This record gives sequence, structure tokens and C-alpha cells, in this order.
Amino acid sequence: MAERKIVEQTLAELGDATAEKVVARFAEVGERFDRQVAVHSADPEAWRVFVLAWTGRKSGILSLITDNWLKPARPELKRVVGQELNKLKAHVEAVLEERRVAIEAAAEQAAQAREQIDLSLPGVERAIGTRHLIRQTYEELQRIFLSIGFSVVEGPEIETPYYNFEALNIPEHHPARDNMDTFYIEGARGGHLLRTHTSPMQIRTMEKQAPPVRIIVPGKVYRRDNPDATHGYMFHQIEGLAVDTDITFCDFKGTVEYFVREFLGPQAKTRLRPSYFPFTEPSAEVDATCHVCGGSGCRVCKFSGWIELFGAGMVDPAVYGFVKYDAERLSGFAFGMGVDRLAMMKYGISELPLLYQNDVRFLRQFP
Ligand code: DAH
Repeated sequence: MAERKIVEQTLAELGDATAEKVVARFAEVGERFDRQVAVHSADPEAWRVFVLAWTGRKSGILSLITDNWLKPARPELKRVVGQELNKLKAHVEAVLEERRVAIEAAAEQAAQAREQIDLSLPGVERAIGTRHLIRQTYEELQRIFLSIGFSVVEGPEIETPYYNFEALNIPEHHPARDNMDTFYIEGARGGHLLRTHTSPMQIRTMEKQAPPVRIIVPGKVYRRDNPDATHGYMFHQIEGLAVDTDITFCDFKGTVEYFVREFLGPQAKTRLRPSYFPFTEPSAEVDATCHVCGGSGCRVCKFSGWIELFGAGMVDPAVYGFVKYDAERLSGFAFGMGVDRLAMMKYGISELPLLYQNDVRFLRQFP
């Protein structure tokens, strides 16, 4: 500290031999003090050190001035040194006191602000949200099939007619194209469309991969349906395909029954009803005993005791022709489930739109 150097010397040593020089010297010290006040008052520790440096009884600057300037001063300068020292002391003390009051007031205010936060009150809880019922159902379906050796693949929602229809044994003008009202993409080269089912991934997977194949395909599908309580322009499916050298109708039936028991509970029974899909032969609708009445008949199952779950069948050999699989050697089964349908059935939801409106009063029922 530069002023310390100055006050460690006597005025004679500093060469201040006249009253004017003494006054100027005190003015210089006073200015240094004023400048330092501003710098040090922000930080409590720096402030404490600063106050001590100026007013410390033994080696504070004011004490050093008394010892080194006043006491040894020549008699004719003693008066002026004494007066200047008193002025300086009064100034330093007044400023320090003023600052002390200000600093304490600020600390007090900060403490009060802190106390205004009542830490004993419960915190603000943010709702974390839950997995949507569709997602939960997907996860349940995947859990079941992953546990018996299937793996998950996903595919494009924008498809070509070849994958969506032809390679699935649905040629142009086949009536099966009519009941899947298709969204065609205008101006798309090669005539793209929004897939109407997840079945195209059967083809894409077999094209890429040699047998054996055991896959499930979750995903969105699109149809030009008029929206009502059970239809929308988009819904969710999960496709399944198993192909190997020794897969029989028994494997198909066993897998389906295992799935139904896992999904609906051990009491659920399964029924296969003859049906038609271009890409399976034979084809079946899989029904389960009504989960509401247990099979005795109620409004939900329209008093039949059975609920339709999904379509399935043994892969039609014609399909193997499109992917260069050996139809003589290979066999397999496939299935396609409507995830929204399964969720609505399992949880007793009568209106499909509830699944998409994202009303929290609905969503909260499925935590
Ligand atoms: N793709 C059919 C549909 O969307 C569902 C389906 C039925 C898929 C039978 C299959 C199957 O794999 O074997 O209506």
C-alpha cells in the first residue's frame, strides 16, 4: 500500500518543510482514502481489512501518522500537523461510520428477503406426465413378443404401392384395395401413398434378411375413413411375422394363444375363425372370450361371448415369390393387430377420439 510507505517516513524525510506542503500531503492521503473506500466496500472481508489498515491502533495509517508525522514534527509545524491530522481523522471516521451503517442495512435487507421465503411450505410440484395409453399398450405388446424371441423393426409411413399392395399379393383392381381407402400422395413420382397397414414391412424385412425371421412392427397407418367413434384417418398397428423351415399351424395357434393369455389374463380362451387376407392362406380372425362377461354374453360382446382381436394366418406361398424365399422349404405365420382397438377393448374405452384429444382428465386415468 503506497500510503503506508509515505506514513512510515517522517515529514522531514519526505521533505515537507512548510505548512503548505503539510496541508498538501494530508490532502493527498485523504484522496487516497476516498478512492479506496469505493473499491473495498463491496466485499465484507475486504472491508474489514481496509478499516483495520486505516484505523488499527498499532499500525493503522492514522496511528502511523501520529507517530511518524506529528510526534517528531518540528515545533513550528506541530500545530498545522495536529490540525490536519484531526481533520483527516474526523473525515475517515465519518466516512467509515456512514459506510458501516449502509453495509449493515443492506445485510439486514438481504436477511429479511431470505426470511420471506418460508422454507417450511411444501414445494411447487410439477406434474411429470405419464406414458400415453397407446404407448403403454405398445410396450405391453412388445414385452409379450420379445419374451418369445421376436425382435422389433420399424418402417416408412410413406410407401410405394408395390410394398403396400403388390408384393403382399394384392394386385391392382383386387377388391382388397377398396376396403382400405388409401391416401395417395399427389405428384409423387412412382405414386407414393401413406401405408394402410404395417404389412409392407413383412416384404421389406424378407427382402433384406435371410430366414429365419421373427419380427414385430409397431407403427402408424393411414386410411381415408370417415372419423367416428371407432375410426380415424390414422391409427396404430403392430404387425408380426415368423418364417422358418419348420413352422406349422400348431406353432401359429400356440403363439396366438400364448399372446391372448398374456394380454388378457390366464382365463382368456382363444378361437380362430376362418377369414380372408390376400397374403395369408389359410387366414383367420382371432377371437378371445369376452373380458367383461368371461364368455357368458353381455352388451360388450353383443351377447356372443367372444370379442374379435385381430387378423392373422399362415403366410401365403405367393408372398415368398416376391422376396425370393423358397416356398417349398419355408413356412410361417403373420398377424396384424390394431393397437388402438386392443387398448379400447382392454380398458373399456368406447370412443376412439378420447385417445387423441389428450384431455388430461382422460389421460390421468391411465397412470
Ligand atoms: N394388414 C391387415 C390389415 O391392416 C391385418 C393383417 C391381417 C395383417 C392378417 C397380417 C395378417 O399380417 O396375417 O387389415
